[in-house]
Amino acid sequence: MIDRGLELKELLIAWIKDAHAMEPAHETMLEFQLKQASAFPEYQDRIRTHLRVTREQTARLETCLRRNAADASVAMDLMGKASGFLDAASFGVGADSVLKGLLIGIGAEYYEMACYRSLAAADVAR
Ligand SMILES: [Fe+2]
Repeated sequence: MIDRGLELKELLIAWIKDAHAMEPAHETMLEFQLKQASAFPEYQDRIRTHLRVTREQTARLETCLRRNAADASVAMDLMGKASGFLDAASFGVGADSVLKGLLIGIGAEYYEMACYRSLAAADVAR
């Protein structure tokens, strides 16, 4: 007999690990954006705020994993970090690199919202 509650819990933990790997990718991207936006101090302030929230989110996810007797996946976290470097590299160094970074960041935020909404729905379902 399949224990649906256990399956959902395992799925939820896997998704929390995915989210935990996603946040360092965004952190890497934001750090890169922060350096590139030196001509836009107000935008840099927004990026610093976003960086702080991103790091807090990573800490919250670690709390969620500990509460479920699980650990983050080192391999997934490294892949997330690497993907953040690749995204940051795709901004380029041209005159429009700040704008490209902003557009990639907006896309990443929508992806992040979809992930957390899925996580919340999975948590309610179990
Ligand atoms: Fe974010």
